[in-house]
Amino acid sequence: MSLTVYRKAHFNAAHRLYRKDWSDEENYAFFGKCSNPNYHGHNYELEVGVTGEIDKNTGFVIDMNLLRDLIKEEVEDSFDHKNLNIEVPDFKELNPTMENIAMVIWNRLRRRIDEKYGISVKLYETPRNYVIYDGK
Ligand code: NI
Repeated sequence: MSLTVYRKAHFNAAHRLYRKDWSDEENYAFFGKCSNPNYHGHNYELEVGVTGEIDKNTGFVIDMNLLRDLIKEEVEDSFDHKNLNIEVPDFKELNPTMENIAMVIWNRLRRRIDEKYGISVKLYETPRNYVIYDGK
């Protein structure tokens, strides 16, 4: 029997969606306002799920304080109030779409959380647009 516990987090970040090999006009035609060469911001909302069995000794799936600290170290400290394209090395050659941001977050957390757990990342870029990545 396994359960999934969730921790919510939040960060503000700026980005620009574009391909370096396209002109500004081509980028605007595909990525719209998100291709603004001067960048723009989003209020990202994050939900991280950790799936596992209840530890008989503690009654926990995972220590939520540990999960909180991992999200702070791997996501908030790196992304909050940053320009993702310029300040976060993961996006030097990777378009910072919500899809790619979710995968980067998942990979960062995967390195820090025991393999016995499943991890899912749900990332809202806007109140209406979000993505879920669970490593599959
Ligand atoms: Ni955008």
